[in-house]
Amino acid sequence: MADYIRIFDTTLRDGEQSPGSSMNIEEKVIMARQLEKLGVDVIEAGFPVASPGDFEAVKKIADTVRDCEIAGLARCEAEDIEAAGGALKGAANPRIHVFIATSDIHMRFKLQKSPEQVLEDAVRSVELARKYTDNVEFSAEDATRSDPEFLYKIFEAVITVGARVINVPDTVGYAVPDQFAELIRGIRAHVPNIDRAVISVHCHNDLGLAVANSQAAIRAGARQVECTVNGIGERAGNTSMEEIVMALRTRHDFFGLATRIVTEEIYPSSRLLTSITGVAVQPNKAVVGANAFAHEAGIHQDGVLKNVMTYEIMTPQSIGRSSNELVMGKHSGRHAFRERLHSLGFDLQPDQLDNAFQRFKVLADKKKVIYDEDLEVLVADAVLRMDDKYRLIHVNVSSGTGAIPAATVEMAVEERVVKEAGFGDGPVDAVFKVIARITESKSDLLRYQVNAITGGTDAQGEVSVTVTEDGITAIGHGAHTDIIVASAKAYISALNKLGWRKSQKSTQRTDEKGP
Ligand code: KIV
Ligand code: ZN
Repeated sequence: MADYIRIFDTTLRDGEQSPGSSMNIEEKVIMARQLEKLGVDVIEAGFPVASPGDFEAVKKIADTVRDCEIAGLARCEAEDIEAAGGALKGAANPRIHVFIATSDIHMRFKLQKSPEQVLEDAVRSVELARKYTDNVEFSAEDATRSDPEFLYKIFEAVITVGARVINVPDTVGYAVPDQFAELIRGIRAHVPNIDRAVISVHCHNDLGLAVANSQAAIRAGARQVECTVNGIGERAGNTSMEEIVMALRTRHDFFGLATRIVTEEIYPSSRLLTSITGVAVQPNKAVVGANAFAHEAGIHQDGVLKNVMTYEIMTPQSIGRSSNELVMGKHSGRHAFRERLHSLGFDLQPDQLDNAFQRFKVLADKKKVIYDEDLEVLVADAVLRMDDKYRLIHVNVSSGTGAIPAATVEMAVEERVVKEAGFGDGPVDAVFKVIARITESKSDLLRYQVNAITGGTDAQGEVSVTVTEDGITAIGHGAHTDIIVASAKAYISALNKLGWRKSQKSTQRTDEKGP
């Protein structure tokens, strides 16, 4: 596979910058392991200088994942590059990704530097990064609004001092496919030493063109695509990994290029990310949305029954998606349970499996059929939230016509067990007031939303709660067959995330580090 498209996954860096998608260190490591199984070439694990938490996450991933290159992001500042070099010390294949803005508007207003200073900073930074690794990527932030002549100059200069990959970001999602392809062709024609570097693209989806722009760039000679699982990322998101990969695979006749992605791991990766962040994928999302393989119209169903290729250009199996029919029930055994979790992207340690299996049995007693979505929330509860500061033990409410809604809540606050009771305007309000008192939370509730995650009257209700305090927002999710319990879990999850985000913010060395 000499000429192929390298997949640079930035779910854990740019993706994590999208609202509601922040992850703790443990969650990032779990996701990184799945990305390794998926076969991405590079995992951008974070921005080490941004906070001690980011540094730790990059370090832990670098120490754990052996089969992918691990990248750490750095501005063209010595402090950033040293932090990236330090965090990546244990990596089998480290990559330092340095970036600086090259558009007039960014250089003038944001950086307040002349083009000459920016070029000098870029060269000096690539040289410094080379002291840690030969594998250095350079990004010209806001490239699509930069003067192409300046881009040619800066790319030539950084390649001369050893950058192996030059990245062309469409930072604000401004590009359109023909023009973007023209820019890539211009770089190939006017950067004399371009044969010593791989051309990469990094597109944002503000105009819904991130995947189309990445495809146009590939046709023009780009050989690395930066993307994220489910297309998450800053603002409208980044190029969606599953869409670019499946387009290259499904239309190999047109592109003539492949990736090294194990496509059967696409769906498990998408589901795992959803379970970790709680951010749902829209039902009509290409490739991984709930409706991506659902045929509703009679004519379509008839065609599919006669020959599936009449209305399906790829199979659900090719992305690791099995039928979404009933999967498990109370008679299912531990082995089937483990296999099912594996196909959803969860490979649990024996003690985690025990914990999850016990919860499965409890749920199966209450609910006749257990769907993949049920298993995902169950594992998220059993495994991903084990280090939380606050945990729900019991909740009881009394309400109804003529009664003042009252709640009793028992919670674990770190090692302590606390029990309190109180009243509210309704049962959920009563529960939330008691939880706020136990946790001494000063946060405001911004949003409260309830969905049924599967069909039927015994369906689990999924509640999502958004809280805010001092300008920091956090979203929590909870699921249960009892909607009051789901609400309590969602609120507690939001408070845990808020606490974590507040601690991250207070340890951040500046608040201007984000790209
Ligand atoms: O969008 C962007 O420009 C970035 C760079 C740091 C590559 O995320
Ligand atoms: Zn970006």
